[in-house]
Order: sequence, then C-alpha cells, then structure tokens
Amino acid sequence: MNDSPRAAPSRFFTQHGRHLLGLQGMHPTRITPFLDLAESYALMNRSRQTPRDRLRGRTVINLFFEDSTRTRTSFELAAKRLGADVVNMTVATSSVNKGETLLDTAATLNAMRTDLLVVRHSQSGAPALLARKVEASVINAGDGTHEHPTQALLDALTIRRHFGTLHGLTVAICGDVSHSRVARSNIHLLTAMGAKVRVVGPPTLIPGAIGALGVDIHYTMEDGLRDADVVMMLRMQRERMNGGQVPSPREYFRFYGLDLKRLALARPGALVMHPGPMNRGVEIESRVADSDQSVIREQVEMGVAVRMAVLDLLSRAGDLT
Ligand code: NCD
Repeated sequence: MNDSPRAAPSRFFTQHGRHLLGLQGMHPTRITPFLDLAESYALMNRSRQTPRDRLRGRTVINLFFEDSTRTRTSFELAAKRLGADVVNMTVATSSVNKGETLLDTAATLNAMRTDLLVVRHSQSGAPALLARKVEASVINAGDGTHEHPTQALLDALTIRRHFGTLHGLTVAICGDVSHSRVARSNIHLLTAMGAKVRVVGPPTLIPGAIGALGVDIHYTMEDGLRDADVVMMLRMQRERMNGGQVPSPREYFRFYGLDLKRLALARPGALVMHPGPMNRGVEIESRVADSDQSVIREQVEMGVAVRMAVLDLLSRAGDLT
C-alpha cells in the first residue's frame, strides 16, 4: 500500500491511453495502482486531509445522460477533494435535448478546455466514441450494459480491505447479469486478479456467452452461494428489460432473493455487497442488507476514494499528451 499519493507512478496509462473506458483486458499491474492510491485516499478522507492542490486549475465535467445518485455525487466529491473545478451537466439541462449530437457536445467540451470528462450514457460505447473526439481524459461512469469500471474498482478495494487480497477468493455475482455493466466490469477485474467468479441467476438473465469470460454459471442460489467468500447482489434492471424475462418481484425474491437462510450457505462471515440502488425485498432482504456482513456502506465510502485515485492518475497521464 502507498502512504502518499506522490508514490504513484507519474507515467500512468491504461490500455486506453489516458482514458478509463473499461477493464476488459487490463493487466493486474495496471489495476493495482488504482487500488493502492485509492487505499491511501480512503485514509485521507477519514482524517479529512486531502491534497486540495492535486487538481487545482483542472476542470472536471460530469456528463450524465442517465440517472445517477451515488456515482455522480461521488465523482463530484472526489474532484472537489482534490481541488478541481467541477461542472455537472445533466441531459435535462444540456443542449442534447435540443438535438445536439454527441459529437457536437464533444466539440463544445473541447472548446471549454475540459481536462477530465466523466461520462454516463445508456448506449454501450458512447464514452469510447467521445474519447476519440475530445482532448480530455474520458472516464466511463457506466455505458449501457457494457462496463462500469470505477464501480468494479471500488468493489475490489472493498473486498481487498477485508481479505487483504483478491487472489483465490470465490465471488458469487447474483441476479440480473444480462443487463449489468457492474457484473461485466467486475468479472474482468476479478478474474484478472485471480479470483474465482460465479454468476448466479435465472437462465433468462444470464447470457450464454458469459462463460467465455472465465466464470462458472449457476442457475440456483443454493448451488451458487455454497462456500462463497463474497456475495455480490445486482439490481433487477427493469428499465433495460422488454418484458417476459422475470416473473413478479415476489416470485423473483422467492427463488433468487438473498435472505439470511441462503446467506448461511456461503462461508461464515462472507461479505454481502450491492452497487445500489437496492430493491429491498426483490433481490435482497433488509435483514441481510443491514447485517454485520453487509459492506454496502463501505462500498459507497470507497467509491469516493477510488474516483479520487482515477481522476488523479488520469490527470497525470494527461500531462504527457
Ligand atoms: C449501477 C449502474 O448504474 O450501473 N449503479 C451504480 O452505479 N451504483 C447499478 C444499477 O443501476 O443497478
């Protein structure tokens, strides 16, 4: 672990250069610096001492074409704790509603001399398209069903703080895997770091091709949770469904909801995670979500630290271009 943010490498690039568009194919030597730096930012956040000069004079724009509470506010807090100027642009207030295309938006952002652009969009690939057109470093804050890299990084940091490592752990990712960018980014990161990943859910919500990503597939919670070190629940993303994929929420909970009885199948003390927002009583019951095994609040805390690390490292990569 690094004690100081200065200890991080100054020549830092992801596989997408100065952008963070996804974690697929990212080598552990690229993932670990994010986690190490985030760990030190987590400590600084607790002591309320963050280096407000790190991003002084830099402009961060949060460009959100989709709803978000946690992700947008944590990027905003992260940027502010490092001293950046932050602007939040949401679809409702931007020219996108007046028919401006994504590429015109890019040209506008270039003219404003944006340094870091945080993008959430309902279309998979939209941040990658923007990254080709803007001078800023682009951070994918969730694109369609594709990836949500900062969520997987904050999940990994939360797990690592409890187990000291990711290597060799069994992580069960449960629920609506089909529509989940969180699941995809977690699968890429966790398998790269040597964890064993299972996906668990009804056949209608598990894409057949997911096995090619190196995960085991289980169609019952009873099989999938057995001896797991981490149980990661996913929200049922009804807004991305076109009907017919799941029965009623009540029926879904009966077969795939996480209750105390099912949790008891996992390793004693297994961690319970959820990226939020939670549908209590649909994919998880309150007694589990609020139990001692739940690290859902810690995930939110680590979200700020991880986003500080991402903004910091990418801003250094940007210095070289
Ligand atoms: C996730 C997302 O937007 O993909 N939420 C989040 O960023 N915390 C998961 C979800 O919406 O269910």
